[in-house]
Amino acid sequence: MKIAVYPGSFDPVTNGHVDIIERAASIFGKVYVAVIENPEKKANFDFATRMRMIKGAARHFRNVRVESFKGLLIDYAKKRKARAIIRGLRAVSDFEYEFQMAQTNRKMCPNIETIFFMTDSRYAYLSSSLVRQISKLGGPVRGMVPDNVLNELKQKENDGK
Ligand code: PNS
Repeated sequence: MKIAVYPGSFDPVTNGHVDIIERAASIFGKVYVAVIENPEKKANFDFATRMRMIKGAARHFRNVRVESFKGLLIDYAKKRKARAIIRGLRAVSDFEYEFQMAQTNRKMCPNIETIFFMTDSRYAYLSSSLVRQISKLGGPVRGMVPDNVLNELKQKENDGK
C-alpha cells in the first residue's frame, strides 16, 4: 500500500485543502494529514482548534487519518513509512517556497518524493490567510471553507468582539 503525508499548518483548513486531500486519497492507499504543532509563523488558531477543524473536515474519507507532528517533516514521514509528501500548488508565487522545501527534503531523504497537486481552478486564489482576513472583517466565507470551519470562524469573531 502506498502511503503519503500531506503536511501543513491548516490555519484554518480551506476547501482547497479538502480538495487536495480527496484527490490524494483517491491515488494513495493511505494519506496522513499532518498538522504542524508549532508552525514557523505563529498560528492564528490554536493547535487544538486547527486539529478539530481539519478532523471534522476530513472525517468522511475512509483512508485518511489526521495527525500532528513536531520537528522535521521527513522524520515524521519516515515514521509513517510514506513514499510521498503531498503539497498543493496554486499560483507561480507558491513555487519558490515549495521548490526550496522540496529540494531540501529531497536532500535529507532522497527516497521520499514530493508530489505537487495543481489546484482546482475553483480554489486557485483561496488561502487560509485570505479566509481569516475576510472573516475578521465580517465578509462572506461560505464556500471557501468546510461548514464545520464556518462555525469556528464565527466563534472566533464573537470571542474577539
Ligand atoms: O501550510 P504551511 O504553513 O505552508 O506548511 C509548511 C510546513 C508545515 C509543511 C513546513 O513548514 C514544514 O515542513 N515544517 C516542518 C519543519 C521542517 O521539516 N523543515 C524543513 C523543510 S524544508
